[in-house]
Amino acid sequence: MAYSDKVIDHYENPRNVGSFDKGDNSVGTGMVGAPACGDVMKLQIKVNPETGVIEDARFKTYGCGSAIASSSLVTEWVKGKTLDEAAALKNSIIAEELALPPVKVHCSILAEDAIKAAVQDYREKQTQGQPA
Ligand code: FES
Ligand code: FES
Repeated sequence: MAYSDKVIDHYENPRNVGSFDKGDNSVGTGMVGAPACGDVMKLQIKVNPETGVIEDARFKTYGCGSAIASSSLVTEWVKGKTLDEAAALKNSIIAEELALPPVKVHCSILAEDAIKAAVQDYREKQTQGQPA
């Protein structure tokens, strides 16, 4: 199948590949798998605890070109966003930006699920150990 130029660009020059320390309190980690194909995506955010703004992001994706491109795009997009803004990201925006064909839309859903899981993980960490 033909990939769009943007998918190829993010696939050949993926942004923000790597990992943060999972145990770091300012880091949120989202790890999700795609039931449709078995691909796995790990997406991490680094948050400024003072402002609640995402300062940096990393990903590792074991998957197809569209999944890699979707996660690369999301790590760029979330920088400078608040947690609420990141959690509200819709996969349709990713799919549109990358011009994903219908069979590849689940790859962008993986990226949406991963960023949501990362935000949730960060939030759960902040409430841990604090008086109820
Ligand atoms: Fe698994 Fe995309 S179907 S790589
Ligand atoms: Fe399954 Fe892309 S994540 S084909």
